[in-house]
Amino acid sequence: MPTPKPRVFSGIQPTADSLHLGNYLGALKQWVALQDDYDCIYSVVDLHALTVNPDPAVLRHRVRATAAQFLAAGVDAERSILFVQSQVPQHAQLTWLLNCLTGFGEAGRMTQFKDKSAKLGEKSITVGLFDYPILMAADILLYDARLVPVGEDQRQHLELSRTLAARLNSRYGEGAAVVPEALIVKQTAKIYDLQEPGAKMSKTGHPAGIIELMDDPKTIAKRIKSAVTDSGQEITWDPREKPGVANLLSIYSALTGRTVEQLVNDYQGKLYGHLKADLAEVVIEALAPFRERTALYLQDPGQLDRVLDQGAERAEAIARTVYQRVAARFGLGQAGAAAG
Ligand code: TYM
Repeated sequence: MPTPKPRVFSGIQPTADSLHLGNYLGALKQWVALQDDYDCIYSVVDLHALTVNPDPAVLRHRVRATAAQFLAAGVDAERSILFVQSQVPQHAQLTWLLNCLTGFGEAGRMTQFKDKSAKLGEKSITVGLFDYPILMAADILLYDARLVPVGEDQRQHLELSRTLAARLNSRYGEGAAVVPEALIVKQTAKIYDLQEPGAKMSKTGHPAGIIELMDDPKTIAKRIKSAVTDSGQEITWDPREKPGVANLLSIYSALTGRTVEQLVNDYQGKLYGHLKADLAEVVIEALAPFRERTALYLQDPGQLDRVLDQGAERAEAIARTVYQRVAARFGLGQAGAAAG
């Protein structure tokens, strides 16, 4: 029998109508490439999106829109498993077991929780938001995933997943969980806000600072042309002194496959305006087929739902087995399951 391919798991929240360039370059692009060599499972993590109390109808639309964008980017629902997190009940079940293994202080140290809760204010912070990283650990451990492609902002959450997996093994014996590893591609680990090149591009950031994958060409051109650079003129790679220019060069390089050194060389003696005009064209060209494909998938929601239902069935078959194995280690379930 051929050895099974190592497993990959990752997810994106359905918290906007469109993903942005940070999601694409930081995560989705790697997802697509990994499908050749790994057994990939990708999820629209709607339970995570609940932590900010979305409107139900809006959430329902965004789940489909996000799945359509995964497909449009090249996620292959035959080769990989594509599913919606809430359709597989073991995610919430495993979260509970992991909750009982996680220290309150340990969860409280998560910087994303601290940042988000500071923004929301005490009255709006939910227990769900606090528990977000534990649910994320459950997502990963539920599939015995070895590799998790994400952007830099998820590094600390991934560390917690690794800690919890190791804790399961030390408390309940080796083989209780697979310890996952983050796959963070250095060059695109953090795409920055076009208006505030010190901050990551984010759906909650400055609207003019993000490029959404579904943006029309005019908007894309406008956003790139008004990107903040600096008062200098020379196009060089200097993330510290010229973070805005470095961000444009990273995006350019990631979308064309040309190295930053090649680009810097090609733009010697040219102005920021040239770089921006060319980059706008590159982004517009890269995203045009993506927008068209997404629209096509969204034209047939019935078919999209069938794809997602099949994905959930395949995901649940794995999740059920792993959950039973872990639950049995805790002393839950029928005694016979402990042998599994
Ligand atoms: P989300 O939806 O906030 O982000 C989705 C992915 O996009 C990456 N990302 C970026 N990468 C580079 N530059 C940026 N500016 C940028 N902004 C976002 C994120 O790192 C992420 O990879 N908590 C996860 C969702 C999740 C998950 C999981 C991921 C839930 N369960 C299990 C992996 C495994 C998140 O950040 O989603």
